[in-house]
Amino acid sequence: MKKLLLLPLCVCCLSFTSHFSKIPRQENISIQDSLDIDLVALKAKGMLNNTIAITIPNDPVYHKTKHYQAIPLWEVMKKYAAIEALSTSDLKVVFECEDGYKPEMPLDLLTNVKVYLAVKDIDAPKGRDWEQIFKGTQEMKAAPFYVVYSDISGEDVNYKWPYNLVKIHFRPLHENDGALKPKDKNYLVGYELFKNRCQTCHAINKIGGKMGPELNYPKSVTQYWKTEDLKAFIQKPESYRNEVKMPNLGIKKVEAEEIVKYLTYMANQKR
Ligand code: HEC
Repeated sequence: MKKLLLLPLCVCCLSFTSHFSKIPRQENISIQDSLDIDLVALKAKGMLNNTIAITIPNDPVYHKTKHYQAIPLWEVMKKYAAIEALSTSDLKVVFECEDGYKPEMPLDLLTNVKVYLAVKDIDAPKGRDWEQIFKGTQEMKAAPFYVVYSDISGEDVNYKWPYNLVKIHFRPLHENDGALKPKDKNYLVGYELFKNRCQTCHAINKIGGKMGPELNYPKSVTQYWKTEDLKAFIQKPESYRNEVKMPNLGIKKVEAEEIVKYLTYMANQKR
């Protein structure tokens, strides 16, 4: 991947001054660093202090209207990553959360929306930085950062709202296609569903989130779960385990069937 990115990056270095004339760019950031943003380090250096107050109606994590001190995400991304000179349609953004949640989105999806990096929760009670988030009985940690949108509905599954966020990475959009995308088109529906709904928490062949268990390597879940149970679990995990950590994602029966079909195919594609 380094090889792939080197060429466009060299070109983009030459044109930095013009591209970043509006937003002064941090110096002493190397090319490699410039595709990864360590938000915690930026905050420690006082580089995320320039916030504005925003209101998010129907925040899908808190399930109510929320108020934050925030920075437009593009301001952060353009200032601290060398993405502008690259073609955004060839890149994806990967959000890395402390708890292993790792959602990703094509960078293009973020181009025309009002997306912000929330750095402080204005509604937090005295003595706390953030209001508590409860998923069932479990308390989740919102700090240190949370990505929110003022013009996107929380029901749009294409848009991710990562909290407990620590880093942002930029990678080639099709980086993992070779390892995860089936060549046989019978499995593509399941692949797309898995990529959009499951990969945020689960890895296949070590690629993906770490909040839930790896599902393919060294043994595929399809090799030690009964097929019917697997389909049922995916639709309704809470019917299998008490205080289950996997959320009910509203997966339909036909979708669960396609996902299991893909997982079964991947059982023969281990690496
Ligand atoms: C928000 C994170 C999250 C998402 C999204 C998610 N899972 Fe999970 N999943 C988990 C966690 C955490 C566990 C462990 C559950 C537990 O034991 O409490 C789990 C467990 C599982 C298991 C059982 C594995 C085992 O052997 O114990 C399967 C199968 C599974 N998930 C499949 C899926 C599929 C398919 C999707 C997409 C439709 C999905 N998950 C989406 C977090 C997630």
